[in-house]
Amino acid sequence: MTTFQIQQEILSLKEKNDICILAHSYIAHEITEIADFVGDSYALSVKAASVPNKTVVMCGVRFMAETVKILAPEKRVILSNSSAGCPMAEQMDTDLIKQLQEMNRGFKTVAYINTTAELKTICDVCVTSSSAVKIINAMPEQDILFIPDINLGTYIRRQCPDKNIKLVSGGCPTHCRASLKHVKAAKAAHPDALLLVHPECLPEVWEQADYIGSTSGIMEFAKKSSAKEFIIGTENSIAQHLQFECPDKKFYPLSKDLVCHNMKITTLPEVLLICKGEFGEEIEINEKTRLKAKQCIDKMIEYGG
Ligand code: 13P
Ligand code: SF4
Repeated sequence: MTTFQIQQEILSLKEKNDICILAHSYIAHEITEIADFVGDSYALSVKAASVPNKTVVMCGVRFMAETVKILAPEKRVILSNSSAGCPMAEQMDTDLIKQLQEMNRGFKTVAYINTTAELKTICDVCVTSSSAVKIINAMPEQDILFIPDINLGTYIRRQCPDKNIKLVSGGCPTHCRASLKHVKAAKAAHPDALLLVHPECLPEVWEQADYIGSTSGIMEFAKKSSAKEFIIGTENSIAQHLQFECPDKKFYPLSKDLVCHNMKITTLPEVLLICKGEFGEEIEINEKTRLKAKQCIDKMIEYGG
């Protein structure tokens, strides 16, 4: 079957079986073309709560599917591929965070949405890269323990100088692959290009950027900008999507190594199998965990909306 034929079959099965396909923007372009909604982590969370379909397929990674299930427990939520985890979300141990909370009594724990449902149960507020600064500024508390991304945390700290923000050392292995060396090489190769960087990158990278923001922020900036060339400092699919959407502009990946293999596990033929009920993992979360984890996602939507 050709890509087009697979896409057509997915579209008709989706309709027949009352399935909504949500996709993170790091997913392959041929999947985003047939998705009902494509967005960054924040937009996907907000969308999850209002989807009318009985089944939601999350083409992304596990914490994103968990977020959908937390917000829409009555739905069948399918993670596109059971191997699609997020190393950052899974690198923090609940006991370690409890110890840090003990050592920092009075601090509110703010969790990047890239955390497991289990870890969210002991946190106060969730944030995403596009909502973090707004939410932390809107919180009445001054003392904040931010987990697990030290790079995003450093960025937030600079943007919220009135807050006392403690960080832990975690991060995204994909974004951490980009270095100042890549920035220098890309700028030398494309001297007229603007550099757009995700705050999950190292500070030495985003300090050189013309724009710092989430995946959607980067895409919106590039689309609206009158500039013609851009170096994209986030997962390489964003440069690809932008090239499709803005054929009159030029997009260069900051480094060829900026590939999230977990986001690349899901393939279009697998999405077809999911629509036939033959693939994917149905997400189950026990009700006690779900309700506790939901409190910090609800807070995110309340402060970020
Ligand atoms: P955003 O979608 O919030 O920009 O986050 C990027 C990311 O790494 C998702 O896993
Ligand atoms: Fe996780 Fe980084 Fe991949 Fe996003 S890009 S899913 S944070 S490993």
